[in-house]
Amino acid sequence: MRFSITAALALASSVSALALPAMTKRQAADIDPVILQYALTLEHLENAFYKKALSMWSQEEFVAANFTPMFYDELKYIAHDEEGHVLYLEAGLTAAGAMPVEACTYSFPMTTPKEFVALASVIEGVGVSAYLGAAADITSKAYLTAAGAILVTEALHQSATRGAVGEIPMANLVGTPMGLNAVYTIASGFIVSCPSTNMALPVMAYPSLTLVTGEPTAENVTIMLTPKMMPSGTAYATFVSGLDILPVPVTVSGDSVSAVVPVGVSGQSYVFLTSDNSGNLTDASILAGPAIIEATPDSPTFDLSIM
Ligand SMILES: *[C@@H]1O[C@H](CO)[C@@H](O)[C@H](O)[C@H]1NC(C)=O
Ligand SMILES: *[C@@H]1O[C@H](CO)[C@@H](O)[C@H](O)[C@H]1NC(C)=O
Repeated sequence: MRFSITAALALASSVSALALPAMTKRQAADIDPVILQYALTLEHLENAFYKKALSMWSQEEFVAANFTPMFYDELKYIAHDEEGHVLYLEAGLTAAGAMPVEACTYSFPMTTPKEFVALASVIEGVGVSAYLGAAADITSKAYLTAAGAILVTEALHQSATRGAVGEIPMANLVGTPMGLNAVYTIASGFIVSCPSTNMALPVMAYPSLTLVTGEPTAENVTIMLTPKMMPSGTAYATFVSGLDILPVPVTVSGDSVSAVVPVGVSGQSYVFLTSDNSGNLTDASILAGPAIIEATPDSPTFDLSIM
């Protein structure tokens, strides 16, 4: 299938060079439109997030908070991109005969430009994990290309915002995929309510897992987590960082658990409370989470003799 410009998209002026490929009848019956609605749900959130911050704080206030005018410009480009992603997905869904989900009302915990940029780096990381995790579920190759194209831009946003808060952008040699429910668990924390006319997505939020101590953290450092409900049986902390899934034992104390961050966790990573240590993260094995952790990498190592 080739990419084509749809009539609906031609109306969406700022992204007229982009178009999702038209869906065939067979594809229209499968999971892809649902994934597009899910992606649009996340893009609405990002779009609202940047619009809110850029309407709250001026360039002068970002500069007073030690961000460069160049970075402020980049924030405006990011807002442009997120708006474009919304219009792109809306047009693709409309062209496919689906009713695109509308924006919800949101609540973002940010009171200063600095808090906003720190939260932006986290949200962009979750966006990258969402597209990467959904990739395996997409059946149409053309849609996979479209999702990959958006993923690249989200990763550039993540890089810019991580850099702006002093974090190493390329802290892991690969990105970290996350499943639909895990991403939704994080996204739902920012969603106050959605229009009742929005299609109900086949996603659910897991019970919350709150990081109490250990931010940022590092390999071999103990972190403490509070699950919404303490599990009755044995539990493990399963860390997800890049393509590594690393279960470790936990120590229970009161209403919290502590775990040692395993070797290999680097950059924005996730931790779940799980009922087993198989490394199979399934709805059945996830007791709570994910909590987001930031593991500052040790100094980079490489071997000049590996050619
Ligand atoms: C963590 O511990 C492992 C094994 O003891 C060691 O190889 C590694 O270098 C340690 N990492 C850091 C950052 O200290
Ligand atoms: C984890 O998955 C593997 C293969 O997918 C399977 O063989 C194994 O039994 C699973 N382990 C548990 C504890 O579910």
